Amino acid sequence: MLLQLLVALTFAAYVKNETVNSSYLGELVPLFDINVVQHVTHNPETLEELFSDDVAVVEGDMLVSKNRNAVGKSWPTTDLPYDIRPDINDKKEDIMAAMAMVSEHTCITFHRRNSTELDYVLFRPGKGCASNVGFFGGRQFVYVAPSCSVGNIAHEILHTLGFEHEHTRLDRDGFIEIIKSNIIKGMEENFKKLAGKTFDIPYDYSSILHYGRTFFSSNGKPTIIPKKDIKDMGQRSRLTETDRKKITLLYNCGTYRCGPA
Ligand SMILES: *[C@@H]1O[C@H](CO)[C@@H](O)[C@H](O)[C@H]1NC(C)=O
Ligand SMILES: *[C@@H]1O[C@H](CO)[C@@H](O)[C@H](O)[C@H]1NC(C)=O
Repeated sequence: MLLQLLVALTFAAYVKNETVNSSYLGELVPLFDINVVQHVTHNPETLEELFSDDVAVVEGDMLVSKNRNAVGKSWPTTDLPYDIRPDINDKKEDIMAAMAMVSEHTCITFHRRNSTELDYVLFRPGKGCASNVGFFGGRQFVYVAPSCSVGNIAHEILHTLGFEHEHTRLDRDGFIEIIKSNIIKGMEENFKKLAGKTFDIPYDYSSILHYGRTFFSSNGKPTIIPKKDIKDMGQRSRLTETDRKKITLLYNCGTYRCGPA
């Protein structure tokens, strides 16, 4: 309890302090009890919310637009224009690998935008990994921190394509138990159920869009307990069959790469 209060206060102080930069992870360590740092920084998808100076518009790694109606809207194309801001060139290889991971066995492709293309994804530096959910039009951001892995970035690209977190499905209580008492105070929103298309695809514990056991844990104990013996919940190394199937159904295109874009 006391520890949580301390963490909350320190976060608040930290967020106000404008010294945050890309090497903030290292700088955080002296500010926190080392164990707390390990819990909260365990997954970079949780960092954008914890350290953003605009917490109100962020839920976990999903940037929440004021226009909730647009959430989940698919792109009008399967060939997404993108650009990478020069100040994250050191993450370029990981970003390219993440796009390749999404393109493999799906019809989604990516191409570098030209100046006449006004709707596009811009990969830019962030404090964590984060993205809008779905198509908004115009330039939209995917935030990439140094700690974001290829799999984390692929997860964000799936948000960009229009998909919510798997563990927020309306039918999730049949599959997982949420342990509220272990969630960092104020972060419970990230575990709220959301209405959204499931395409009648069975619940997928292994989805790249599923949180792991201890995401947003205040104490290292589980925030999500699967009701089955699942080994790879929260994995970020591959898109599962159902992740790919969802893309195919939302974008109405074949299981494998459809012809030239
Ligand atoms: C970020 O912080 C580190 C450590 O304080 C410092 O060495 C570095 O120059 C800073 N980088 C930027 C871009 O401000
Ligand atoms: C830019 O991209 C658009 C859409 O893909 C394409 O029609 C156009 O020819 C491109 N323009 C240039 C200058 O490459």
